[in-house]
Amino acid sequence: MGHLLAPSILAADFANLQRDVETVNASEADWFHLDVMDGVFVPNISFGIPVIKAIAKHAKKPLDVHLMIVDPDRYIDAFHDLGADVLTVHYEACPHLHRTLQAIRAKGMKAGVALNPHTPVSLLQDVIGEFDLVCLMSVNPGFGGQKFIERTYQKVRELRGMINEAGTSAMIEIDGGVGSNNWAKLVDAGADVLVAGSSTFNAPVPADAIREMKGLPVEA
Ligand code: DX5
Ligand code: ZN
Repeated sequence: MGHLLAPSILAADFANLQRDVETVNASEADWFHLDVMDGVFVPNISFGIPVIKAIAKHAKKPLDVHLMIVDPDRYIDAFHDLGADVLTVHYEACPHLHRTLQAIRAKGMKAGVALNPHTPVSLLQDVIGEFDLVCLMSVNPGFGGQKFIERTYQKVRELRGMINEAGTSAMIEIDGGVGSNNWAKLVDAGADVLVAGSSTFNAPVPADAIREMKGLPVEA
């Protein structure tokens, strides 16, 4: 299976959300990536449950919800009820990560764990069978449009090795600073899902940027 592309709605035009959701619906993209920030875990506040509910009404592709919040356990039911397909929590925000991942799966969602750039992938060894996706942050979480951290390639390769060795089917997602210059290298290193915010929505034609990052021909 080829890699998946998940445009991040954080970079969409919030005054034209329905238009931008339809752009993704009509494109070759695979998932909607939805960044929830609480102003505590990260130094920014984005959008929350009511806005995602409105997006879910129009979205025709799976919802990949990335929680950058403290105490995410409190909201697992709420995100399930609004239709999240993948629910990702931060390693750094979960003192009982094993329990949190099990609670997400118990609701029938794919359980994801995100790692900040400073968090080594080796820390996932003792929960390797408990998640369906690892979101490797390739920028410090909180803002779109930041520069990709090159160390990420090494983390992808190391994590790919750990997942292969464990024999699970967990996916590796890369989040932050992904664009036309690095998507192919990330896929080569072992990434399965690429999040792309500014490189999608700041492109002259978002559908073409999506095709390019899917490795599909773009008409001139
Ligand atoms: C950053 C978010 C990302 C963000 C990526 O905290 O988790 O999903 O939208 O934005 P770009 O693709 O612009 O780096
Ligand atoms: Zn994200």
